[in-house]
Amino acid sequence: MNILLLGANGQVGHELLEPLRDLGEVTAATRDGRLVGGDACLRVDLADAESLRHALTQSNAQVIVNAAAYTAVDQAEDEPDQADAINHRALAIIGEWAARYAARVVHYSTDYVFDGKSEQPWREDDASAPLGVYGRSKLDGENALRASGAEHLILRTAWVYAARGKNFLRTMLRLAGERDELRVVNDQIGAPTPAHWIAEYTVAMLERMVQKPEQEREAAFGTYHLTASMRCSWFEFAEAIFEEAKAAGLLDRVPRVLPIATSEYPTPARRPAFSVLDNAKLARIFDLHMRPWREGLKEVIGQVASARSSGEIS
Ligand SMILES: NC(=O)c1ccc[n+]([C@@H]2O[C@H](COP(=O)([O-])OP(=O)(O)OC[C@H]3O[C@@H](n4cnc5c(N)ncnc54)[C@H](OP(=O)(O)O)[C@@H]3O)[C@@H](O)[C@H]2O)c1
Repeated sequence: MNILLLGANGQVGHELLEPLRDLGEVTAATRDGRLVGGDACLRVDLADAESLRHALTQSNAQVIVNAAAYTAVDQAEDEPDQADAINHRALAIIGEWAARYAARVVHYSTDYVFDGKSEQPWREDDASAPLGVYGRSKLDGENALRASGAEHLILRTAWVYAARGKNFLRTMLRLAGERDELRVVNDQIGAPTPAHWIAEYTVAMLERMVQKPEQEREAAFGTYHLTASMRCSWFEFAEAIFEEAKAAGLLDRVPRVLPIATSEYPTPARRPAFSVLDNAKLARIFDLHMRPWREGLKEVIGQVASARSSGEIS
C-alpha cells in the first residue's frame, strides 16, 4: 500500500512517520522537502494547488494522511486567505484527487469547529459553529473533503502536544525556568492529547478498517472524535505538567501557578470554553478506547526526559 504523509514534520505528522511504515510504503512530504533530522523527502506547499497535485501524482498514493495544517490560531485572524488555502481549499484538491483515483484520505480536524457553549462532551454530529478564522477554515476543509466523495476518516482532536514542536507543555517547561509565577486560564476545559496517541490510534483504525468486512468498512468511514479521556482546564494541566516534570527530574523548582479567567488573558482569536469531545463513536465502531490525559502526560514527560538526556532536544 502506498501512503502519502503530508505535514510529516508537524507534531502529529512526525509521530505518524514510523508507525505508518508498518502499514506500507510511506512517501513523506514537508514544506521544505526535509524531514526533522535532515533526510530529504517530497516537497509540498498545500497553499499551492500545482505543488499539491504534483505531490499526489508523484506518490501514487492509495492512502493520503494529511497531518499538515495552518495551526496558528491567533495569526489566522490576520491571514484568513492563507488559513483557507491550507485548511480548506487544499482539502478540496486532495478529495478530488482521491475520489478520481480511489484513494482514501485520513484528515485531522479540531474541537474549534464547535463554539464551546455546552456542558456535555461534543459528539460528531453536534452543530458546528466556529468562533474564529482557524475553526472556520478547518470546518470548511472537513466539508470539502466530505463533498469530494472520497472515502475518508476525519479525526477531530484537541489540545495536542508532544515532546517536540510548539505546544503548551513546552511553553510551560520553558517558562518554569524563567519565572517564579505564572497566570494560566482556568475556565477553558478540554483534554490534552499527546500527538503519539493520535498517531497510534490512527494506525490502529487503518489496521482495523482493513480487517472489516466490505459492507462494514464502507459504513466505518466518516468523522470521529479522538482525544484523551477525562478533562481539565489549562490551569490544571499546567499544575500537572510541573508535578510530573519535577518528579522526572526535569525541574529543580516549580513556579507558583495562579488560575485566571479567559477575560484576563485576551487573545486575537476567541477559544471555545468547553472543548471536551465524546470519543464514544471510536469505541463503538473500532473498539478503540482512549486513555486518561494524565497517563499521556506521564508518557510525554518521559519522552522529554529521555530526549534531553540524549541531547536530542533542549
Ligand atoms: N495543535 C493542536 O492543539 C491541535 C488541536 C486540534 C486539532 N489539531 C489538528 O491536528 C492536526 C495536526 O496538528 P499539529 O499540532 O501536528 O500541527 P503542527 O505541529 O502545527 O504541524 C502542522 C504541519 O503542517 C505544515 N504546514 C503548514 N502549512 C503548510 C503548507 N502550506 N504546506 C505544507 N505543509 C504545511 C507545517 O509545516 P512547517 O513545519 O514547515 O511549518 C507543520 O509541519 C492539524 O490538522 C490540526 O488542525 C491540532
